[in-house]
Amino acid sequence: MTAAVDTPASVQPPVPPGSTMVTIKVYRFNPEDPDAAGWQSYRVPALPSDRFLNLLLYIKGYLDGTLTFRRSCAHGVCGSDAMRINGVNRLACKMLMKDFLVEGKEITVTVEPIRGLPVEKDLVVDMEPFFDAFRAVKPFLMTSGNEPTRERIQSPTDRERFDDTTKCILCACCTTSCPVYWMDGSYFGPAAIVNAHRFIFDSRDEGAAERLEILNGVDGVWRCRTTFNCTDACPRGIQVTKAIQEVKRALLFSR
Ligand code: SF4
Ligand code: SF4
Ligand code: FES
Repeated sequence: MTAAVDTPASVQPPVPPGSTMVTIKVYRFNPEDPDAAGWQSYRVPALPSDRFLNLLLYIKGYLDGTLTFRRSCAHGVCGSDAMRINGVNRLACKMLMKDFLVEGKEITVTVEPIRGLPVEKDLVVDMEPFFDAFRAVKPFLMTSGNEPTRERIQSPTDRERFDDTTKCILCACCTTSCPVYWMDGSYFGPAAIVNAHRFIFDSRDEGAAERLEILNGVDGVWRCRTTFNCTDACPRGIQVTKAIQEVKRALLFSR
């Protein structure tokens, strides 16, 4: 499928002053007509201050209401609009059009669903396998004994130990850019390991040994080939591969 969409003259969509026309090529998939899957092009006006998400909303609002994608916060917080933009995993709401636009040229931007998870429709994937891996590493504080009567004290140095991995918004950009995950989805993937790291290195937690045992298994950290795709893809700037290496080291020195 490759088609430019014409808008009926009676419903001409707005073109903001100063905007540049951009072609957005979307890889479309409709589960009710899987044989028709393919690229579809739309021409959309873009301002340098637009986020890529604004352009998708424009298509949905003015050109083609059947286009399907997830978004919620539009500010890089909820992690719901991960997609593959020009071949790279990104959050649509964090991509500024000024980084794509070339003066005097009409550019084309491609967008596809993230890889390695089943596509439900257009840019929406089934996130359940991703969350299954997240849940499997027990991403919550584990303690024994009685409930504390006071807050659990932690020094700033101990807090710093896992500060980077607290920033994860579970967008899946890392896991779905990992070649090992593409080849075999049974690998936990980087996001699950990042969230295990957040608790393994928390001085208040007592579940590190249990989590390390889980990550020492056949689907765990040893599958990582240290290719850094995950670190490059993370919209929160988390040192994902470094966190994975720290978990590997913790496993080596805990034996
Ligand atoms: S560093 Fe490891 S987890 Fe990250 S993309 Fe490469 S193989 Fe996957
Ligand atoms: S580590 Fe980064 S890329 Fe991976 S899920 Fe968390 S925020 Fe997204
Ligand atoms: S819409 Fe929430 S992170 Fe993009």
